[in-house]
Amino acid sequence: MIRHTAQDVTAFNQMSCIFSHMSLHFNPNPNKVISCIFSLKEEVGALARALRLFEDKGINLTHIESRPSRMNKDQYEFFISVDSTCSQALDEVIDGLRTQISGHVHELSRNKQKDTVPWFPNDIQDLDRFANQILSYGSELDADHPGFTDPVYRARRKEFADIAYNYRHGQTIPRVEYTEDERATWGTVFKELKTLYPTHACREHNRVFPLLEKYCGYRQDNIPQLEDVSRFLQSCTGFRLRPVAGLLSSRDFLAGLAFRVFHSTQYIRHGSKPTYTPEPDICHELLGHVPLFADPSFAQFSQEIGLASLGAPDEYIEKLATVYWFTVEFGLCKQGSEIKAYGAGLLSSFGELQYSLTEKPKLMPFDPEKTSLQKYPITEYQPVYFVAESFEDAKEKVRKFAGTIPRPFTVRYNPYTQSVEVLDNTQQLRNLADTIGSEMGKLCEALRKLA
Ligand SMILES: [Fe+2]
Repeated sequence: MIRHTAQDVTAFNQMSCIFSHMSLHFNPNPNKVISCIFSLKEEVGALARALRLFEDKGINLTHIESRPSRMNKDQYEFFISVDSTCSQALDEVIDGLRTQISGHVHELSRNKQKDTVPWFPNDIQDLDRFANQILSYGSELDADHPGFTDPVYRARRKEFADIAYNYRHGQTIPRVEYTEDERATWGTVFKELKTLYPTHACREHNRVFPLLEKYCGYRQDNIPQLEDVSRFLQSCTGFRLRPVAGLLSSRDFLAGLAFRVFHSTQYIRHGSKPTYTPEPDICHELLGHVPLFADPSFAQFSQEIGLASLGAPDEYIEKLATVYWFTVEFGLCKQGSEIKAYGAGLLSSFGELQYSLTEKPKLMPFDPEKTSLQKYPITEYQPVYFVAESFEDAKEKVRKFAGTIPRPFTVRYNPYTQSVEVLDNTQQLRNLADTIGSEMGKLCEALRKLA
């Protein structure tokens, strides 16, 4: 069973957005602790010199941890927490870190004022800045992972992680020669799920699936290549895939959707348990997610969640991640008099896909206000699912919900420049009015010709 993006939200809630930006970032929390992160070159005495700055200002660190920097191989990142009463002295330490220790430390957001807007990508290439800031997995596996004691599998995971780490926007996604064992695992999952799709999957999924078989090599004996699938999606809805080594923070993952970019894993689950995976893998992405991203309404719906997340406060990111969980991952929708599955977590799990359409789980109407507050388990079947009237209806509801997010601006995606426009001045609004006017002209003309 897949457990996706939200699974580490709680544990990494504070650290995730901080690490994702890999710079200095303050995070005052209810316990009056200030956290920040800085990078240092890997050299003897570097940390000691940095810590001396804290000592000189009488600042007591309540927490410190480190990890190799994923952006700069010769650097380490340090996450520290101090009591918020040290705020002023910390200003001086930061100056010292910048001027005396490393030129690579810089501040993105201090959140000193309540209305500070967290950083977000403006351009599709900005996704390169956080794509490697994964929270877990990658080539490292937890002790309870089925592949934990398998050195061959771990080495293979490293190969996939390296592809993702080295990938930059605009590049072709490297093709992978999958092994016989990997293809066998895929084949088991593919064969089982395909028997359920006609009766359990939504019509959009069933409409696209044959196209994926025709154009992208979806077959029981073949694992499709991300690059082929990404090109297919771009031709359908403008969505594209980007390889990722593991789990991103919710903020970063959702930001990708704003640009119609889906961060996709490329590795496959361990062959010893073909029907189980504790993390997203290529079966989950290609069988669960991809067919829906080829549907225009669903693509717009997904992008709407992403756009709502840009610059949103942390508590709203958690709410949007929950909305994502109950829609893109575990959503059900009405289709005529029936209810069908469209969530990728369902469409990639033989067991839960069947269970979700039985009498056992509780079904509730999709309503972002309520859905965003629903608690959920991550290691068992969902006790509650939310049913959307349609993707159009769900999109409108998310759009309205986005309007309640406290942001001092509105954002709009410009597909021509692949960038996010912040609508906070009259010139931007004039440009938008011109665009809408031009589109309305075309609509009127087309309607006249049809009449
Ligand atoms: Fe997923």
